[in-house]
Amino acid sequence: MMHIHYISKCLQHFVKAKHWRGFGIHSPYVYHLQRHIISTNTKSDREIRRIVRRYRKELARDNRRIDLNDLGTGKAKSGIVSSIVKRAAVDEKSGMLLSRLVADYKPEVVIEMGTSLGVGTAYLALGAGADVEVITIEGSPECSKVAQKMLDKHGIHNVKLIVGGFDEELPKMLKSIERKKVLVYLDGNHAYEATMRYMNMLLEIADDNMMIVMDDIHLHTGMTKAWREVCQMEAVTTTIDLMRMGIVIQRSGAQKEQYVLRW
Ligand SMILES: C[S@@+](CC[C@H](N)C(=O)[O-])C[C@H]1O[C@@H](n2cnc3c(N)ncnc32)[C@H](O)[C@@H]1O
Repeated sequence: MMHIHYISKCLQHFVKAKHWRGFGIHSPYVYHLQRHIISTNTKSDREIRRIVRRYRKELARDNRRIDLNDLGTGKAKSGIVSSIVKRAAVDEKSGMLLSRLVADYKPEVVIEMGTSLGVGTAYLALGAGADVEVITIEGSPECSKVAQKMLDKHGIHNVKLIVGGFDEELPKMLKSIERKKVLVYLDGNHAYEATMRYMNMLLEIADDNMMIVMDDIHLHTGMTKAWREVCQMEAVTTTIDLMRMGIVIQRSGAQKEQYVLRW
């Protein structure tokens, strides 16, 4: 059932959001994102959409039960693969946006926090292109196993899958990517404290070269609080609230700017 907080945020967003054509956006960079990346399809979209649809369809037919060790909710439970993909995987609209953002931003490394069955990973890896590595972290060994098999089977090889908890794995990984241009997709553990902890870790090493896409920024009051605080952080220059997702950008020389955009 949809939470009352989420419904009220949707209504507020509808009233506040700037037009999808970019009217009233002063920043040339944000105007570019809105006109050419957020609200438009690009040439390579069709092929990526085709590959990930096939990937998703295959998971939707998989009725195996696997163990889930969700470090985000702290619950040890199991689930059927076909239901997990329906419940947890990024939807096509958001996934295609991720792939366009990666292709446009041209990071040296992509990080995904929360692999699940690898659907989001597939969009990111295909958008990034074969030469850019996508490092994805997942706490559930069984989910990771399915994701790794599926990625291999669908010819998506520019992925390094790390099995482990964000709190242990992220600090190790961040050491190895310091000073690189990085795009991060944060899609696991949607709790206020955890989100702020990961955002602080990421922005500490950001060095003017980071884009972070936060999923479900208005899922509940805790996530909206986290989003508001992230927008105020000193290290953050540009934020774009798309309701379902939030884009956080650190750009040298840019003034602090906050946008709410229709998508
Ligand atoms: C919403 S799903 C990710 C969906 C995926 N990005 C996609 O689009 O297909 C979140 C995943 O994050 C993992 N997760 C949550 N908290 C975690 C943590 N602290 N460490 C490692 N993995 C975690 C869960 O096991 C779950 O599989």
